[in-house]
Amino acid sequence: MRKLKLFGVCTSARGKESNTYYLMKQAFDALKDQNVEKEIVVASELNLKPCAHHYSVNAKACVHPCHITQMDKTDEMIKIYDGIINSDVVIFSTPIYWGNQSQLMQLIVERLNSLENMNSVHHKVVVKNKIGGLMILGHEDGYQHVAGNLMNFLTEMGLIFPPQAYAAWVGESTEDTKSDRGRLEKDETIVKIFSDLVENTVNFARTILECPECGHKFDYEHVSKKKLYK
Ligand SMILES: Cc1cc2nc3c(=O)[nH]c(=O)nc-3n(C[C@H](O)[C@H](O)[C@H](O)COP(=O)(O)O)c2cc1C
Repeated sequence: MRKLKLFGVCTSARGKESNTYYLMKQAFDALKDQNVEKEIVVASELNLKPCAHHYSVNAKACVHPCHITQMDKTDEMIKIYDGIINSDVVIFSTPIYWGNQSQLMQLIVERLNSLENMNSVHHKVVVKNKIGGLMILGHEDGYQHVAGNLMNFLTEMGLIFPPQAYAAWVGESTEDTKSDRGRLEKDETIVKIFSDLVENTVNFARTILECPECGHKFDYEHVSKKKLYK
């Protein structure tokens, strides 16, 4: 059985102090499979320049490696690009802010446009044979909207989603955010929801990418034909 690489990106602005990171770390730690190499990148610790939106000037100018990556050596988006390209399972975690993903998650989505654009405009598949998952955390509501929004982009970028591809938790509609961490720490069922997502995506990766029983090795790419009209 080959080793799988599980890559997580935590996009809470509060970094390692955040509830989002807490749940992601607990869930990654819960996976004891020795055949899975695990890494979590904390996006708030990286120097991530916002997308320069070359696509909007000329779709062909949006490429991988992205222009910012090529020109600005202080920019650290390469850690996320390489993390995705070199992994089998990619999980993003985000808090909910006014019904949407975090600013950092949105910045990353816009920078990842270059990976998506390699397929849709340049007809070259860069992201393939990778399973995706999402962790979404709020205090009140909005996780279905965030899940739909992110899955829309990430499937276009090339990730493959298993059934039940996201884990989410929101509290009640109160202003008592202070008690959230205590609840997350005390209630094992919440951590279980998130560790189950990790297990689900890894199991799906084993089944889809490499089926040890049947000797099958998955290798699939699809070049987008959606926008071929003149
Ligand atoms: C500006 C702002 C807007 C928020 N909007 C929502 C929201 O729409 N829905 C929700 O469930 N929680 C909302 N929250 C609560 C956060 O999602 C929640 O506190 C979460 O745990 C924060 O994640 P963190 O611990 O990773 O920072 C909001 C918090 C902030 C700061």
